[in-house]
Amino acid sequence: MKVIGGPSSQLLASRVASALGCELTVCEFKTFPDNEMYIRIIDEIGPEAVIVQSTATDSDYVALLQLIDACSTADRIHVVIPYMGYARQDKIFKRGEALSARAMARPIEADNVITVNIHETSVLDHFQCNTVNVNAAPLMGQYIRDMDHFRNPVILAPDEGAKGLVASAAEELGIDYDYLEKKRLSGDTVQVAPKNLDVKDRDVVILDDIVSTGSTMAEAVRMLREQGAADVYIACIHPVLAGSAILKLSRSGVVEIIATDTIEKAVSKVSVAPLLAKTLSEL
Ligand code: R5P
Repeated sequence: MKVIGGPSSQLLASRVASALGCELTVCEFKTFPDNEMYIRIIDEIGPEAVIVQSTATDSDYVALLQLIDACSTADRIHVVIPYMGYARQDKIFKRGEALSARAMARPIEADNVITVNIHETSVLDHFQCNTVNVNAAPLMGQYIRDMDHFRNPVILAPDEGAKGLVASAAEELGIDYDYLEKKRLSGDTVQVAPKNLDVKDRDVVILDDIVSTGSTMAEAVRMLREQGAADVYIACIHPVLAGSAILKLSRSGVVEIIATDTIEKAVSKVSVAPLLAKTLSEL
């Protein structure tokens, strides 16, 4: 097995190769003056190739398609898409729209596709090969448990939809968890508060799959601070952090942002490499 790191996932690919104890191939990436992309895998590809490439941007996606094509001499190709862009457009809401997640999945030609906490698992049905979606939330739970600065923390989902994600991070480790519920108090007053737990004087980590613009999290941080929470942290699997999300979150009073390396950013403190290596070794 050889691991090929795409331009968006070079660190993660290196970590996966080292966790698997296999070779990391070197690739050349460049952009032509007209902005088209050039990709070349310099080392021998061998019979089994693992491509690691998140597709947070359109050009990341083009790079992935080119890498798959460049591996066409391999007998088996495993494509790891740690963060799959467009997975949130998983339904047709208005007549004439593209089902973007399907449009992205269909052209991927591989033996196996591995994703990490894909936004909707129904998207996996659009790939024409075997798929595995792994859950990185328990790794996030371990990080929260192991860091000394969290004092008796509670992990909260920003809405009921993320309750399962939070439960999988906290339950086995015996960390308290809950979700934020929106309650309408009057015609124009809405209160957002934990459904069951009191956060007063407790450290809180709000965990979601994706932080994109940061609006959902910034609002939750403000509400929890008003309710007397001690330090409020934000955790996510995929730190999209579009535009001024970091500024927005910092201004809301968040103490720290913790994310995985499905998208490689300064806040990517938890690596999903051990999880991916284990999955690949079991294929
Ligand atoms: C949505 O369904 C996701 O789970 C996140 O809650 C959402 O992507 C967060 O978006 P934003 O950071 O823009 O509020």
